[in-house]
Amino acid sequence: MDVDSVIGTKWLFKSENFLFYDHLLSTQDRAKELIKNRVGKPGYVIISDEQYRGRGRFGRLWISEKGKSLTFTFIVEKIPLLSMRTALSVVETLKEECGLHTEIKWPNDVVIDGKKICGILVEIEKNLAIIGVGININETVPPLENATSVRIETMMSFSRESILSSFLSIFEHNFKKENIMESIREHLSFLDRYVEIKTKNGSVSGEFINLGDNEEIIIRTDSGSIVSFLPGEAKRVDRLVE
Ligand code: BTN
Repeated sequence: MDVDSVIGTKWLFKSENFLFYDHLLSTQDRAKELIKNRVGKPGYVIISDEQYRGRGRFGRLWISEKGKSLTFTFIVEKIPLLSMRTALSVVETLKEECGLHTEIKWPNDVVIDGKKICGILVEIEKNLAIIGVGININETVPPLENATSVRIETMMSFSRESILSSFLSIFEHNFKKENIMESIREHLSFLDRYVEIKTKNGSVSGEFINLGDNEEIIIRTDSGSIVSFLPGEAKRVDRLVE
């Protein structure tokens, strides 16, 4: 990766706080260690060309191809709607840099035609948020079934450096943005649709009527009752045909 072309003039992400690696087990784990060792602070960005043990939600493995995928973690102060601010920033970056129309799939994926192009993992360490982002950029073969990449969708290769640099600028803007909910809703997949949510205790179906301030999905069930689930309570959400 061409390091210099990633680092722009940014108020939150300053050049001295960028850490680039050829390989790591996981950028997420590296960020945690840095915070534990009192080195990692808000504004740190950890980027690795390859991860040997990338992590996804619920302890799943995150598979990414060396040199093709964009895998990084950044540290910020905890504020509301962090997963959604990140997902929105990915959607806006892919539109601006690659002309791709993607959507936010609650709780923290970015998809195109239902296929996953980006996964986001938000974890908390010592009251700081560690946000891991994996975007499939130049893969010619999807890393998983029902996944895709920018290259597969556009038939073009893109510079991961430009996409990262653009993402960080857009995130800085969205991090400070007040009244961000409207922009999030505009890009939220399945909003106002009939969905099924799989939780640890079974599944619930109903209309996805709103997103709460704690990123909870708010559902009107068939019996008319309103229920909500926090991101950590739901394994997945699928659209059901009405
Ligand atoms: C998910 O979809 O379950 C979330 C995937 C998050 C993957 C990213 S890649 C960079 C960072 N490092 C990790 O080990 N995981 C996140």
